[in-house]
Amino acid sequence: MTVTGTGQALYQRARRRIPGGTQLLSKRPEMFLPEQWPSYYSRARGVDVWDLDGRHYVDMSYNGIGACILGAADPDVDAAARAAIDAGSMSTLNCPEEVELAELLIDIHPWAEMVRYARSGGEAMALAVRIARARTRRDRIAFCGYHGWHDWYLAANLAEERALDGHLLPGLDPAGVPRGLIGTALPFRYNHLEELEAIVAKHAGELAAIVMEPTRDQSPAPGFMEGVRALADRTGAVLVFDEITSGFRLNSGGAHLLHGMAPDIAVFAKGMSNGYPMAAVIGRANAMQAAQDTFISSTYWTDRIGPAAALATIRKHRRCNVAAHLVAIGERVQAGWTRAAERAGVTIHVGGIPPLSHFAFDGPDASAAQTLFTQLMLDHGYLAAKGCYTTYAHTPEHVDAYVTAAESVFRQIAAARAGGGIQAALKGPVAHSGFRRLT
Ligand SMILES: Cc1ncc(COP(=O)(O)O)c(C=O)c1O
Repeated sequence: MTVTGTGQALYQRARRRIPGGTQLLSKRPEMFLPEQWPSYYSRARGVDVWDLDGRHYVDMSYNGIGACILGAADPDVDAAARAAIDAGSMSTLNCPEEVELAELLIDIHPWAEMVRYARSGGEAMALAVRIARARTRRDRIAFCGYHGWHDWYLAANLAEERALDGHLLPGLDPAGVPRGLIGTALPFRYNHLEELEAIVAKHAGELAAIVMEPTRDQSPAPGFMEGVRALADRTGAVLVFDEITSGFRLNSGGAHLLHGMAPDIAVFAKGMSNGYPMAAVIGRANAMQAAQDTFISSTYWTDRIGPAAALATIRKHRRCNVAAHLVAIGERVQAGWTRAAERAGVTIHVGGIPPLSHFAFDGPDASAAQTLFTQLMLDHGYLAAKGCYTTYAHTPEHVDAYVTAAESVFRQIAAARAGGGIQAALKGPVAHSGFRRLT
């Protein structure tokens, strides 16, 4: 193994002390560039990142895995966080910002009446599912898409090992999830209303919730959202929209607002507070009041920094029309990828809503080609992968310089394919594409 740089050396130490190496699968170096990825940062500001050896990169990849919607260390959000620290981030009394934030979220989403908080996405989804189960006194959840690491969700893989494949992260292992939960999480695919109808036909009186992202890779097909809403109404299931990643990308709030659709509950997390831990579950009073019928409570859900950062992020988002910028930058990236690949003679598939853009190479060596792309882009000074999550800190100039580099890398990939093959050009193993145990 040729380990490069201080970051990789530290990561080898981490693997001995931290099972799985990192806390988030999507930050695992093997997901990008095994044995070569810088892995750790010393400093991040806007889209600029410095690794432990002081090397500078422009982040054209995931920008805090979607958390840094304004860019890392946004001055306005950081000032609000610092003010919260200076005022005392924790007390026996509650922070007033949580009421202010509830009112702001309801102002943005007039269908909602009440709000609860958590500090991370998966946790907030678990909270929403508990509320739905408490409200309906039913167990089963029909879902589509990825919603975190909690038992309610991974239970889908108890019934059928690959049920969660195709829901963003392939291969999620449910070891440790009680087998008693078999059959409680029932998957359907986005834009496949007939699959949800089949679940309803079998379990109508047992569904506690229908859980889905309003959009991600695709826009809803005509009638899909309306059909889901109608099935929720017919069965009495609570309709939960997971806006953890889709929220604040296309507009200053939940993406569902763009489709004129109101769920019973919507969940926000990483898009709302620019890198500070914060999550919100908003909903209609008749659903949310069920949070009082069950025990949902945690000390650090009361910290002051999260709500202060969320208020500053959302206000800046609205003031600066950040969503329009995220979309314009994403469209520029998508057009740039397409143009660069055409010129280099490489076939790629571009997808995703513009702020959450991604591309994939064609062919049996696609994963190796993706790994080589990341390897060669690193030499050009970019953190680059198959996805590009845009931020308010990205400029058109960042995109144009990145696309120029991407075109030359696509040419190198085409040349490698024509010569000794992609594998021969890689300095380490091919990147992982899903959940896998590290050996
Ligand atoms: C749609 C969606 N739901 C839930 C989660 C889980 O959020 P977290 O990683 O903050 O627990 C994510 C994270 O990527 C997500 O994209």
